[in-house]
Parts: sequence; structure tokens; C-alpha cells
Amino acid sequence: MRIILCGFGVVGQSLVKLFESRSDELYSKYGLKPRVVGVFDSKGSTIDPSGLNFKKLVDTKKKFGTVKNYASIKNSMSGVEMLKNVEADVLIETTASNYKDAEPGMTHITTAMKRGMHVISVNKGPLALAFPSLLELATYNQVMLKFSGTVGGGTPILDYAKNSLSGERITSFAGILNGTTNYILTNMGTGISYEDALKDAKDKGYVEADESLDLDGLDAAAKLVILANWILGIKVTLPDINCTGIRKVTLDDIKKAEKNNCSIKLIASSDKELVVGPKEIPNDDPLCVNGTLNAIAFTSEHSGTQTIIGKGAGGTETASSILRDLLDIRQEIARD
Ligand code: HSE
Repeated sequence: MRIILCGFGVVGQSLVKLFESRSDELYSKYGLKPRVVGVFDSKGSTIDPSGLNFKKLVDTKKKFGTVKNYASIKNSMSGVEMLKNVEADVLIETTASNYKDAEPGMTHITTAMKRGMHVISVNKGPLALAFPSLLELATYNQVMLKFSGTVGGGTPILDYAKNSLSGERITSFAGILNGTTNYILTNMGTGISYEDALKDAKDKGYVEADESLDLDGLDAAAKLVILANWILGIKVTLPDINCTGIRKVTLDDIKKAEKNNCSIKLIASSDKELVVGPKEIPNDDPLCVNGTLNAIAFTSEHSGTQTIIGKGAGGTETASSILRDLLDIRQEIARD
């Protein structure tokens, strides 16, 4: 399967390492032979229709900070130019999420779909701003659009709700979908101030480059948009979410919650409306997970409430979600 990889940060590098370490098994067990024919990062790109060497890609990125130096002729093709000129079956879009205009991911995805490529996106921006129209574009161009890594990282939250609960009617859900704010609120629960907890989260590398995405709830809201469209079939985009972050949560609020045997968590929920905001959760509720963990409780008509818990971020974890999507695409192509 010929792949163009847009974005070569932690997730992209983890993915090619995964391809490298599991290549024999991927072929013998699933018939999957991933051939990365082009990689684009913010400083340049590299192309080889016969397949780039995974180890050399990672080594080049480590040494030069870009894949541009992979070959002696340095390539400055943009992601869009690559998608227009290089033949491939699948685009894997891993550039950073941007909730203003969703670029450059949006143009990568639409260009690829118009050229008949299937798309796997772990970039939430395009889905948060245009989920309904991107799904329509995929249907129109008869390609698959997969995005299981956008919610829960490696934890298969979307697949669980869509496939494991198939036939069920999910009536509502509520979840902790942002690990960074969960880490900050958990630490505040031990008496640490908001400022110190934020600094600690920054030191550990958890906070997004634009901290507002975590602290003001945008990341959680983007995930809520994806869940609402995919699981509940509600056609919404980011501006439809009633969103409050954690900046105004005080130690007093946390102490008050403790007196009720509760903790304050940033909860994304779909009850009467789609809301992201701080909420008291009983300490004995399975949803009340700590640290950087994510959790989501789905309530269905017949099977009650089930909670899934797992890591919501991380390079290898998110790379594993991309592999899941790739195997799905491989299987659907084989079926056809
Ligand atoms: N900033 C996100 C989080 C990363 O903290 O959960 C994963 O989307």
C-alpha cells in the first residue's frame, strides 16, 4: 500500500518505527506491506516511488530536524504539491491541529480525496471545523476517511462505540477527553495551585504549543464534535459547542467538591446539548480517572452505561490507532 505521510513529528516517526519493527508480521498476518512513497514536514519533503527506508527517515529527521536531507537532491515540495504529483493509495495526515482554518491539514485531506486517495487523519482541526462536509467529500469521491486516533489516541473509543455497540442506540455519553487538563486538575486535588500544576504539566511536555487548546477546552471540544457526528449522527462543528476551560477552577472549588466525595473534571458531554466544562464527578464513578488518563462513559438504550479508560495521547499509542485504520482500509479494499 503506497502511503504519503504529511507531518513527521512524534506520531509520524512512531508510525514508521512501528512499520519497521512489525513489517514481517504485518505482511504474514494481514497482507499489509506499507510503502511510504513521500513524507512532508514543515521544512521540506522527500519522495521515492519505490518506498523510503524507514530507519533512514527517522535518522535523517533526528540529525537535520527535517526529512528534506534524506536524499542528496533536497526536495522542497509542499504537502499539496506532493499529493498532486505523487501516486499513492493513502494519505496519513499528522500535521498539527489548528482550529482557526484547519490548515494545512484541510487542504491535504481534500486534495488527497479528490485524487481518489483514502485518508487517515489524526489531525483534529479539519474534522472539528468541517466534519459533515469532509464525510460527504469522501463519499462523493468513493474513498475512506478514517480518524480513530483523533479521540482517545490509542484507546479505541470511536471504534468501541461504533462497532462494539453496533445495533445499540447510544443515548448519551460523557468523558474526560483531554489528558493535560486532567493532569492539572488531579494535581490541584493534592493542594497544588493552578499555576504550579500548569508549570509541572509544561515541564513534563504535556501542554500543547498553544496552551489555550488544552486550557480553554478547545481540544476536548474538537473531540466532542467528532464523537457527536460519528456516534450520534449530529451534524455539528466547533462553534456549536458550549465550551468552558479550566482556567477559572480554584482550589476552593476543588475543596468544595471533595466535601461531596467528588473531584472536578473537565467533562465533554452530550446530554441535552453538547458541552465542555468543569464538573463535579463522584470519586467512585469509573469516569473519575486521574493523571493524564482519558475516560468515556457511553449510555445505551439496552446495555446500560459502559466506561472505557486509557491513555489519550502519546506517539506510539496514536501510531497504533493509525495502524488500526490502515488495516481496516486494507481489509475493505480486499473485500471489494
Ligand atoms: N493535548 C491533548 C491532551 C493531546 O492533553 O489530551 C491529545 O489529543
